[in-house]
Amino acid sequence: MKATARILNGIEIAAQIKAEVAEQARALAARGITPGLAVVLVGHVAASEIYVRSKVKTCAELGMFSEMLTPPESVTTAELLELVAGLNARDEVDGILIQLPLPAHVDTRRLLEAVSPDKDVDGFHPINVGRLQSSASHGVQAGSALAPCTPAGIMEILRRSGLPVAGQHAVVLGRSEIVGKPVAMMLLNASATVTVCHSKTVEIGRYTRDADILVAAIGRPGFVTAEMVKPGATLIDVGINRVTDAAEVARFFPGDEARAAQFATRGSTLVGDIHPAAFALAGAYTPVPGGVGALTIAMLMKNTVAAAKARRGASAGRSEVAAAKA
Ligand code: GUN
Repeated sequence: MKATARILNGIEIAAQIKAEVAEQARALAARGITPGLAVVLVGHVAASEIYVRSKVKTCAELGMFSEMLTPPESVTTAELLELVAGLNARDEVDGILIQLPLPAHVDTRRLLEAVSPDKDVDGFHPINVGRLQSSASHGVQAGSALAPCTPAGIMEILRRSGLPVAGQHAVVLGRSEIVGKPVAMMLLNASATVTVCHSKTVEIGRYTRDADILVAAIGRPGFVTAEMVKPGATLIDVGINRVTDAAEVARFFPGDEARAAQFATRGSTLVGDIHPAAFALAGAYTPVPGGVGALTIAMLMKNTVAAAKARRGASAGRSEVAAAKA
């Protein structure tokens, strides 16, 4: 009989990371440094507002300072560049996050490139993209790249769960700048053999069936079916798709009374990019919700403390030594 697939609990792993970050924030506070995050949220995108509130709340829970800047939808690129320049110049701001997507009239690329690379806690600045490419590490360390949060979270799940990466065939579905490309690079840096599949890949199944680690980040509910998965593989599901059609819910979760009840109450349920039936074949998998999604904010907090330490830790250390000698 097949062993039951192991569930990789993102909520537990995120809690571990947040506890470590809180400890580091306390150590910095003892030196008079409160790590600080500035979040720029333009206009009113409902999903972005929810994410940003959650980021601000987590900062407070971990003993960090945060500030939310909310320019109106009509803001110009020039005005945003000025706002970012101000944040770059403020010493108490360690991390700057510009919530995406921005309105179509804003030059997103120019804005992301205006963020000081040392404060780029999203890891989107070309300098950090380049540093990630030349890095052999898959975590975030002072002095090395600030890595994008969702891919960094995936690597933490694999590492903290003791799952092997070196020598494994990792197949990534999706080539976005936020997830697909950086996670492919991080898996390569961790010595996996990496294949990246995307919308133009011919017959994706022939790659996914050979994957020891499959990372799905394409935003299509239940795209990866059981026939596309190698038994025993590690399945990492980055998709968070809201399904509102009752027939579709019944198709994804046949006989699952808890899901049916949830759907009846809320009128929707979340489905990843991997079909729930495929999880049964896995060696280990991240559930949706409660998997990869839970890690993203924890990694943002980790990046903010790392940025604070890298930029302010050394001088604080020197003044401590000077104080001790005095
Ligand atoms: N929008 C969706 N995901 C992200 C993210 O990781 N960072 C930012 N800044 N915006 C996002």
